[in-house]
Amino acid sequence: MMDKKAKWITLEGTEKKRPLTFAKNFSVKKKLLRATLSVSSVGIYDAFINGVRVGDAVLMPGWTSYQYRIQYQTYDVTALTKAENRLEIGVGNGWAVGRIGCGDDRRNVYGDSVAVIASLTLSYEDAEETVVTDEDWHVYSSEVLFTDIYDGEWIDKTAPIHALGNASVTQVEGELVGQVGEWITEQERLAPVEVIRTPKGETVLDFGQNMTGYVELRIKAARGSRILLHHGEVLDMDGNFYNANLRSAKSEDLYVCSGEEDVFKPRYTYHGFRYVRLTEYPLDAVDPASFRAIVVHSQMKRTGDFVCGNEKINQLYHNIIWGQKSNYLDIPTDCPQRNERLGWTGDAQVFCRTAAINYDVENFFDKWLGDMALEQYEDGGVSEIIPRCFPGRGRISAAWADAACVIPWEIYMAYGSTEMLEKYFPMMKKWVEYMHHAGPEEYLWLEGHHYGDWLAMDHGEDSYVGATSTDLIASAYFAHSASLLVRAGKALGYDMREYEDLHCRVVAAFRERYLADGNLRQLPDLAMDDAHAQKNPPNETQTAYALILAFGLCREEDRLRFADRLAAMIRENGTRMTTGFVGTPYLLHALSENGHGDLAYDLLFREQSPSWLYSVTHGATTMWEHWNSQKEDGSFWSTDMNSFNHYAYGAVYDWIFGKSVGIVPISPAYRRISLTPHPDRRLGFAKASIESRSGRIVALWYYKGDTVYYEFEIPDDVKATLTLPSGYREELNGGTYHFAEKETSGGNIL
Ligand code: BGC
Repeated sequence: MMDKKAKWITLEGTEKKRPLTFAKNFSVKKKLLRATLSVSSVGIYDAFINGVRVGDAVLMPGWTSYQYRIQYQTYDVTALTKAENRLEIGVGNGWAVGRIGCGDDRRNVYGDSVAVIASLTLSYEDAEETVVTDEDWHVYSSEVLFTDIYDGEWIDKTAPIHALGNASVTQVEGELVGQVGEWITEQERLAPVEVIRTPKGETVLDFGQNMTGYVELRIKAARGSRILLHHGEVLDMDGNFYNANLRSAKSEDLYVCSGEEDVFKPRYTYHGFRYVRLTEYPLDAVDPASFRAIVVHSQMKRTGDFVCGNEKINQLYHNIIWGQKSNYLDIPTDCPQRNERLGWTGDAQVFCRTAAINYDVENFFDKWLGDMALEQYEDGGVSEIIPRCFPGRGRISAAWADAACVIPWEIYMAYGSTEMLEKYFPMMKKWVEYMHHAGPEEYLWLEGHHYGDWLAMDHGEDSYVGATSTDLIASAYFAHSASLLVRAGKALGYDMREYEDLHCRVVAAFRERYLADGNLRQLPDLAMDDAHAQKNPPNETQTAYALILAFGLCREEDRLRFADRLAAMIRENGTRMTTGFVGTPYLLHALSENGHGDLAYDLLFREQSPSWLYSVTHGATTMWEHWNSQKEDGSFWSTDMNSFNHYAYGAVYDWIFGKSVGIVPISPAYRRISLTPHPDRRLGFAKASIESRSGRIVALWYYKGDTVYYEFEIPDDVKATLTLPSGYREELNGGTYHFAEKETSGGNIL
């Protein structure tokens, strides 16, 4: 616990923007039972007792909506204490004080100088003593001369450490709260797979995997000699180092050697990279053994696994997992490398179901949703990014802000906690009410400025916003979120008649506006107030159909006809999808649930852009932001929006898991499941498992001759409804089961 007497301290004066060390000596006078240290900071901190680092968490105190709350962490430091001790806490700019947000000049969003608060409790047999931060602490310069989340870190082992005077007490707005989320830790260490000499003559290390973290370097070089590292995700078409897609993020680490054996790694920042250029390096030979890439992310328990007989799909799955590892660093970021790395709500909501299959993300989302709830505006609006670090009110975009309804529901379905659902129910309700009162129509959302079907391929090569009408998307999501609110309320035992009625009215209004004569009729956007509105003629899009089918927006008698139309559009287009962030997560579901399972598979196996396997066949080790981030000719998409580590399209794994292998939770925490496998020869075999809150569930299928064999492992107390492709159904209880049936064709996956 943080002692109430602890004060926030900082350093007044010119040095305050530099990383600092706050220090205090203390003695242990009697036999110590236990020593605990609680720390937090404005900026990122690391704490040391007698020179030994406290705990193994990094980048603490993590990123919350600092204006409302800042986490503190508590460590058992008994083993580090002696009779006479020195406690030192280093602090660098981090998210709070350095650059953050897309703009190049956005910095100091949460304060213009670093600050620290700490309390150390020494428990003796008969008494307790506390050491807390106050004006008696001393401040020193740091060996870290510069640090920034986007720009990197400079560490100078020769820099003299100056005493800068006593700390001064300061005020910090956010409330201190104990650690809510998962700890951020160093997870894996990757050795370079190759030292490349590029055509330009540069030396580049290839770690073989695009990732998030930093490089650790061990080196003994002449005192004062410099090492300069630059980070990049891909090589360009000529095989040269490339980092223009990091935009203005410098992502550079600069080290100055002491002359002794040095170990360098950043203390207050991280990078997204696979390649590291040794822009300056003092030794003639580069020994790969002295470099390690350290993978850093939130410490989530891995729960899911998947393998199949198709190596490209296995690589896709690998890329999805690494997309999550790379972007689940305390908050769900869009990407880990450029001057962004923000909690984009749209990306988070489309991927959260997949995320909760791969890892246990309940705590992770509890923390982030907590910030979302705190930041929700009075009128129910939810900003496009959380924590909101842009000045002013955020853009309230359909499909982004709907994270407020989608994520609490998905997390509830995955883990079954009614307490958590109850906690976020008011946020869900306020969000639905926002849409209810936005714009000129009560039951449609026809105003605002949306991101639309972000990065779709149906609106010209260079358009960010796809061709689907943004007010159609907004109204479709209005219906979807209202229906999730109703389900959540019912799960909590509330009377939801008012919102059931609202949901019905929204669906009816949607039908009247867009589906009046039984056909999809897109209208010019009222919602977009910019050029997009003029450029966006009424037309049919794959995304519009995918949303209508997935959200149950058409009349039942039109459903299969709409699905056929969607399938025909895809086929007429060369079995090519054109969907972006909004349509893609639903596309395969919309097809396979309505008689077109084979076409869903065709899209999954497609290798030309746009497709999931295009990036795989082009050597990707993580998910790309664009379907064609690197084009056929080796050139790149524009530098301003081209991440090679953007997890959103990885949402396809919820289709592979739920529809191909066929495991779907019907009730929360997988207490009741459906097993509806849909084998396809091109996969060969498929096996998925999940360590659910109700136990381990495994499903697999494989071919032998013209027979498909199925195996299932169901935990005790879980009830499963099995439906095989032939239509055979059986209710199963806990146990291991084997089935076999002749191969069938036809594309319906229920
Ligand atoms: C981000 C996206 C995000 C989008 C909003 C981009 O800059 O990288 O992933 O959702 O902005 O449309």
